[in-house]
Amino acid sequence: MRDFIPVNRPALVLAPMQCVTDLPFMRVIAKRGGPDWFVTEFFRVHENARPDRYILRSIVENQTGLPIFAQIIGSDAAEMCRVARELHQYPIAGIDLNLGCPSPTVCGKSAGGGLLRNPAAIDCMIGALRDAIPGRFTVKTRLGYENEQEFGQLLDVFRKHAIDGLTIHARTVTDRYQTPVRPAFVQHAVATLPCPVIANGNVVNAQAGWNLLAKTKAAGLMIGRGAIRNPWIFEQIRHYGSGNSPVPTTHDLHEYIGDLYEEMARETKQFDERLHVQRMKKTMLYIVQGLGEETEQAMRRVATAADFFAICQKALEEKRDLPDVPPESSKLFCGFHELLS
Ligand SMILES: Cc1cc2nc3c(=O)[nH]c(=O)nc-3n(C[C@H](O)[C@H](O)[C@H](O)COP(=O)(O)O)c2cc1C
Repeated sequence: MRDFIPVNRPALVLAPMQCVTDLPFMRVIAKRGGPDWFVTEFFRVHENARPDRYILRSIVENQTGLPIFAQIIGSDAAEMCRVARELHQYPIAGIDLNLGCPSPTVCGKSAGGGLLRNPAAIDCMIGALRDAIPGRFTVKTRLGYENEQEFGQLLDVFRKHAIDGLTIHARTVTDRYQTPVRPAFVQHAVATLPCPVIANGNVVNAQAGWNLLAKTKAAGLMIGRGAIRNPWIFEQIRHYGSGNSPVPTTHDLHEYIGDLYEEMARETKQFDERLHVQRMKKTMLYIVQGLGEETEQAMRRVATAADFFAICQKALEEKRDLPDVPPESSKLFCGFHELLS
């Protein structure tokens, strides 16, 4: 990963987000400046499973020119190694191991964040993967399962193996997504690990990004929900304070939504307007944060393309700057206040 980190500024990474950061989304984000690299949604690994064909397309058809890591999730070290080797036949920048997913189904199978309850199993899995992966191998973790005091033991495991990078979503699994993040733990990892550390969690605008970097001294930032709502965030962080930082308007947002709608439609084999609108909703609920309660409620109920575009037109036709941060009261974004100062 070290070789992808720019010399004179922090690295910027789009966070993997299941059902959001697929091939169309990456194309749309890359057109607006984009990150320094991508990470795929997770490839679920279980016995005899082949890599998901749709997710594979974000690797094989990635024409953005940006590197892409393939993320894997699972509990069986031998199966994980088999899939990691198979993924190496494709043009990937490396393999990323998911140790953070809080889904009860995933954790119940001792995969993703569920593995954090068992540092010995992580030790075996990382050791096996390190031996099996010929190229870059990175890990994405949380601070622990239930308690951030678990982090010290996890760091000991990460330090034992020659991983190429560690991304830290600075919450525990039981915190899920809404609490404040804990930069001090990331700073400790930066100070004590030999590999680059990327900080993740609650970067909702450029100021939050630079503040998180200052608090952690991390080599870079991974940004998820903030980049769905504001795909210009990577450019804003790159040019922060220079006078060249983009100031997106409602019209830019309107164009982004239209672009996303078209790109996603282009990738749908049997286009069904209503299904397409439903599929767009998951992403749209992040995008409309800050555009008012009425717009959000309308987007939750929308069923047809005509209504979808009418809602966007009504909310975005008057040209004005986009709100810099989402409302902190929103369930999809909250707990970020401490990062703004
Ligand atoms: C809808 C959604 C899907 C996600 N899917 C994944 C995933 O496939 N792999 C992963 O490592 N993390 C996943 N995450 C977690 C994000 O990568 C990221 O760690 C988290 O959202 C915190 O960063 P943020 O505050 O910038 O959004 C997902 C998060 C969301 C909101």
